Amino acid sequence: MRLASTPEIEAFEERFEEAVRTGHAEDLDIIGYGEVTIGVKLSTPHGDFACKRLVPFSSGEAAEDAARLIASYVEQLQRCGIDVVTTETPILARPSGHVLYCIQPLLEPGTLGPDFLRGKTAEQAAPHVSRIFGHIRTSVTPSLAPDGQLSNWAFEGDRLRYLDVGTPFLRDEQGNDLFDFSQQTRALPAPVRAIVDRFLIEGILDNYFSIRGQALDFLGNLIKEGLGEILPPLIPVANRELALEPEVNEKEVRAHYRSDAQTYAFIQAARRADRWVYRNILRKPYPYLLPPRIERFG
Ligand SMILES: Nc1ncnc2c1ncn2[C@@H]1O[C@H](COP(=O)(O)OP(=O)(O)OP(=O)(O)O)[C@@H](O)[C@H]1O
Ligand SMILES: [Mg+2]
Repeated sequence: MRLASTPEIEAFEERFEEAVRTGHAEDLDIIGYGEVTIGVKLSTPHGDFACKRLVPFSSGEAAEDAARLIASYVEQLQRCGIDVVTTETPILARPSGHVLYCIQPLLEPGTLGPDFLRGKTAEQAAPHVSRIFGHIRTSVTPSLAPDGQLSNWAFEGDRLRYLDVGTPFLRDEQGNDLFDFSQQTRALPAPVRAIVDRFLIEGILDNYFSIRGQALDFLGNLIKEGLGEILPPLIPVANRELALEPEVNEKEVRAHYRSDAQTYAFIQAARRADRWVYRNILRKPYPYLLPPRIERFG
């Protein structure tokens, strides 16, 4: 069964474009800003969906390639025992480019990892976090990796579900990325894009293909989610469940988080500057929606 019909998605994309044109993001029901994707809620008579819009691709072929990779990614994660949320990837040819959406049933807010753990003690959180670590341990290889961060998982009853499949972390045997990340950095102003493509992306991606990198990311991200209080007691859980050798410590986690936060803060600041140029010098609507300034705790 299709999640959302083509006319529904087309109408949705028109609303999205209108919001970009007018700069009124508040007209959309935004559920999450990622570093590249933006998630918006779509309500239909037959259910609510999460519509995650990737940066428009430069050609239909590039968008089709991405859709194929996403399907293969979902399949490979499932083969590792990960319960991936059903995802459809319609592509629309629009003036802004070839727009690919990841459409999923909308999960209840309280089930999303950060919400689910909020208010729990470290002791109560540990078994749930251990389940995520179990999936990281059994799925991460030099050629496959989920983005193991807490915000990409949902706890639905007994099920632990994984939802972030829009940027497939897949590599071939030589270590080449299969997904063309330079299509997604198209949203960055040219000089910044050049720096990211040439110097930053490789290191950012390498991190996902290592269990240690995943551990540092997961733990550091607790700070961003405002869950810093349960960070110290969860460090030994990570060391044990992920068999980290040498062990990670709090200082290393905080340093990793700081460096990550600086990179993303730099990118977002550059995008805001770019938006200013569009609006005030070029007098054109800025073609993307930007996240509000992110409170990066810690
Ligand atoms: N199916 C869904 N139901 C409810 N909320 C969702 C769903 N999918 C995503 N979200 C919310 O939107 C956020 C971002 O979505 P997702 O993780 O898929 O992309 P992303 O992190 O933006 O990707 P990237 O950072 O790789 O660009 C999630 O952390 C979650 O809060
Ligand atoms: Mg995510």
